[in-house]
Amino acid sequence: MAGKVMHAVWYTRYGGGAAGLKHVEIPIPAPGKGEILMKVEATSINPIDWKIQNGFVRPILPRKFPFIPLSDVAGEVVEVGPGVKNFKAGDKIVATLGGPGAGGGLAEYAVAKESLTVLRPPEVSAAKGACLGIAACTALHSLTVTGGLKLEKTEPRTNVLVTAASGGVGHYAVQLAKLGNTHVTATCGARNIDFVKSLGADEVLDYKTPEGAALKSPSGQKYDLVVNCTTGIPWSTFKPNLSKTGKVIDITPGGCTFLNYAVQKLTFSKKKVIPLLVFPNAQEIGFLVKLAKEGKLKTVLDSRYPLSQAEKAWAKSIEGHATGKVVVEP
Ligand SMILES: NC(=O)c1ccc[n+]([C@@H]2O[C@H](COP(=O)([O-])OP(=O)(O)OC[C@H]3O[C@@H](n4cnc5c(N)ncnc54)[C@H](OP(=O)(O)O)[C@@H]3O)[C@@H](O)[C@H]2O)c1
Repeated sequence: MAGKVMHAVWYTRYGGGAAGLKHVEIPIPAPGKGEILMKVEATSINPIDWKIQNGFVRPILPRKFPFIPLSDVAGEVVEVGPGVKNFKAGDKIVATLGGPGAGGGLAEYAVAKESLTVLRPPEVSAAKGACLGIAACTALHSLTVTGGLKLEKTEPRTNVLVTAASGGVGHYAVQLAKLGNTHVTATCGARNIDFVKSLGADEVLDYKTPEGAALKSPSGQKYDLVVNCTTGIPWSTFKPNLSKTGKVIDITPGGCTFLNYAVQKLTFSKKKVIPLLVFPNAQEIGFLVKLAKEGKLKTVLDSRYPLSQAEKAWAKSIEGHATGKVVVEP
């Protein structure tokens, strides 16, 4: 593909939101050692993508401008670099381009590391496969690695709360939690209550009601594990709803979370909040692809946009009201 050009969308400075995205024609990248050149069939947006544009981790990310955002991709292998053993041209794949700050996905072609790529079976569409990186890995990691939940029905029962269960991470967290022996309480807006029940939640709270804001389980459960996919809920709201050793996994930790985490460590508190940042890896993506293939994990697409309308997709994610995932299809 040397010398050929592709359509890509990048931004050249911090800020600007959807209007800061620019459409460009640039050379197709070449795969290096251990790398794969893929034709991107779909890429999904996570809030971290536009938070990086906002300067959330300035000056660390983006590493340089101009920056092509998005790192969760699915597509077809076009060419492999030296040393690539497990993939060949024509293979259908899902890849992470290297965690939230890597970028490169909002383009017709992208280069992925072989070590961060998995094969995609025909049962998993490109649009849905492209969502199994950051959002699904964060749900899986929060519940199992950090939360200690085993996805087996033979385990003792765990009471789980998932907040913002209608969103990208939350909709996966509800389904994954239900693979274990769990009782799942979930929060979402009124319009999504039936949707979240359809994902398997045992009880659903409208977050705009007093009971929902208080996180009170309608059936009186105390939560052993909370996957907190929203922001602004203080520890004083979580604490009375937790079991004796209940944990809150906070995936959007702010200063209060880090402070509470430190104080709880120092005081050997049994109830805890744990800040978490997840970097997707091929092993977890492969596990999620397998669940999707077996029909045990569904991806719900809020909306799909062509690359020519990347700004609309970006704005949709920034609004914060997606039900499921927002996808761009180059
Ligand atoms: N730590 C990590 O590694 C990691 C990884 C992925 C994501 N995150 C973070 O996790 C958060 C969620 O990400 P996401 O991709 O799931 O976001 P998202 O898809 O944009 O979430 C949107 C959904 O959240 C719902 N929602 C908003 N506020 C709510 C509230 N107070 N209570 C209940 N539901 C609420 C919205 O419902 P309505 O439309 O009804 O309001 C909407 O359906 C973001 O802050 C993101 O940056 C962290």
